[in-house]
Amino acid sequence: MPLPKPAAPERRRPLVVAIDGPAASGKSSTAKWVAKELGFRHVDSGALYRAVTAAALARQADSQEWSEDDVLAAAAVVRLEPGETSFEPRLGDAAIDDELRGAAVTAAVSLVAKMPRVREWVNARVREAAAGHPVVVDGRDMGTAVFPRARVKIFLVADPWERAKRRLLQRFERLPTDEEIAEETDALVRRDAKDESQTQRAPEAVLIDTTYLTQEQQVERIVALARSAMRLSR
Ligand code: DC
Repeated sequence: MPLPKPAAPERRRPLVVAIDGPAASGKSSTAKWVAKELGFRHVDSGALYRAVTAAALARQADSQEWSEDDVLAAAAVVRLEPGETSFEPRLGDAAIDDELRGAAVTAAVSLVAKMPRVREWVNARVREAAAGHPVVVDGRDMGTAVFPRARVKIFLVADPWERAKRRLLQRFERLPTDEEIAEETDALVRRDAKDESQTQRAPEAVLIDTTYLTQEQQVERIVALARSAMRLSR
């Protein structure tokens, strides 16, 4: 009897490396570097929530007045521009990097990130970006809600004091004082609480505690995991 024909190989999807974790755990800078090392593109889902927030602020400065429909209407001008190593959010044609990290956007973004239809909108944009090119995506729920079948899932954590110190070092470009770090730690812990419901760790995600790691060490570990997944899927 002739042997049954082997099933046609499934068309492979581009590889997804999903990096999740709380605020200031170093996700975005690590993800950017990992993407460069692997020749993938980086997608920062938090930056997309921030871009939608910036678009909503441009239409109505008082976030208390926003309905979910208003925010979704504002999102129509937000798009992801493909570059060599990343997809960058744009409002129309304008690059908005500085505005995204500003106080007004930071104060209102948690509200926007809690809107279910806005989450669907952001998730759809991130999945579109990943459909045609291998990506490193970072956020809170990339390895769970958005890419449950991602080949590589990482959950980054770090001690809040260390996260606050790193954030201030970046902001001030000098060593922060203990008082400044204590104040920032308090703000970070509050933000963690606000974002708690969206922050999900996939049970199969590799947990990396970066408290005592350099950024180079974090990147090396994730790149090694991704290369191993790429070898296994060949
Ligand atoms: O990582 P970030 O600080 O840039 O994120 C901005 C906001 O978006 C923050 O409130 C958490 C939220 N967020 C989310 O809910 N889900 C994601 N996948 C990414 C960010």
